[in-house]
Amino acid sequence: MKIGIDRINFFTSNQYVDMSELANVRNVDPNKYLIGIGQSKMAVIPPTQDVVTMGANAADVLIDNENRDKIDFVIFATESGIDNSKSTGAYVSGLLGLKHVRSIEIKQACYGATAAIQLAKGHVSLNPNSQVLVIGADIARYGLNTAGEPTQGGGAVAMIITKNPKILSLDADSGFVTENVMDFWRPLNHSEALVDGKTSQNVYLDFFNQTWNEYKNKTGLTVADFKAMLYHLPYTKLGVKGLREVLNEATDSKKIELEREFEAAKKYNNQVGNLYTGSLYLSFISLLENSNDLEAGDRIGMYSYGSGAVGEFFSGTLTDNFKSQLPKINLEERVQVSIELYENMYQNHLKNDGADIYLDYSNDKSKYILIGSKNMQRQYSIQ
Ligand code: COA
Repeated sequence: MKIGIDRINFFTSNQYVDMSELANVRNVDPNKYLIGIGQSKMAVIPPTQDVVTMGANAADVLIDNENRDKIDFVIFATESGIDNSKSTGAYVSGLLGLKHVRSIEIKQACYGATAAIQLAKGHVSLNPNSQVLVIGADIARYGLNTAGEPTQGGGAVAMIITKNPKILSLDADSGFVTENVMDFWRPLNHSEALVDGKTSQNVYLDFFNQTWNEYKNKTGLTVADFKAMLYHLPYTKLGVKGLREVLNEATDSKKIELEREFEAAKKYNNQVGNLYTGSLYLSFISLLENSNDLEAGDRIGMYSYGSGAVGEFFSGTLTDNFKSQLPKINLEERVQVSIELYENMYQNHLKNDGADIYLDYSNDKSKYILIGSKNMQRQYSIQ
């Protein structure tokens, strides 16, 4: 039975900062951000959006009368959780009106959404008529004026996993690895991540090679069998480095093809920044929408990495109707905000300090919004 991604959508805020402007204010050569790190714009998530609202905003258009009653499992992957007990899955199921479902949250840094897909695949294989809503949503926060600052961003990707999927059919085998590494972590009392960026880069590339080699050994496939290679993109330059690891195994024509497809695959991530769990899947959407060469049957390789650390290389093939299922992403309609406004929004995110607060949401036209906190409970609204 074929199982995979039947529907997919992406949500981010409608505001961004320009990376050249951020570099100028931080007294850094803009080319460090634009070329060295590979980011042109960075999504700014306003206080009126958190992972729950972004997840709901991404998932909303994927649910209709055709699939509403078939969805029986909601798996929400995030490393920006808002509660130590109650799952973001339960919050989002409530907002979306999904009642006859199992709802959970899953965590392993940026790898979480891939773990969710693997769980969903197992669930559908045991229950072929079931559909699973998988969401990966995060806000990447490293702190103002830190080395990690230019690699922030945020957003959500939502996917429906089914049998006979309309976009991508997942292959059976993958290569995977876990090691207990301290390259990126966020202690419970921190709203910002702690990161050893150089270690993270090294483990990411090492795990890519380990999982890619395991995949090749298991499947007998080689780089020649792939139309495109996708990577978890905390910043697009890291994916460039990951791609280099396989290019020396490719013929000249395959090398040109993989580089061309990767250009299409990194376009949206370059404009949004890091969305942790959703980054690999935003890159998938970017490939689908910006490549002119994809055809049904093309095999796509995907490398998922979550600090701490877990890596997995897996793959899928595009299905017959994938072109008719693409979401309409328009990043051009977003509004550029000043560095001052970005800093203000960064500092005024909703804190878990117990105080009652009512947020001004007049500028947020999204369907699902966070409007404040009362009695230590987040208050959401649908508009
Ligand atoms: N023009 C072009 N490139 C420039 C440049 C300039 N003027 N100045 C610097 N660069 C290049 C550097 O050569 C380097 O390239 P390389 O990686 O190919 O060697 C790159 O820009 C970054 O410079 P570096 O000095 O290493 O930056 P940094 O110490 O400020 O840290 C990160 C960069 C990415 C490590 C940091 O932002 C970070 O830790 N981010 C978080 C990473 C993360 O999310 N990890 C967890 C998930 S995987």
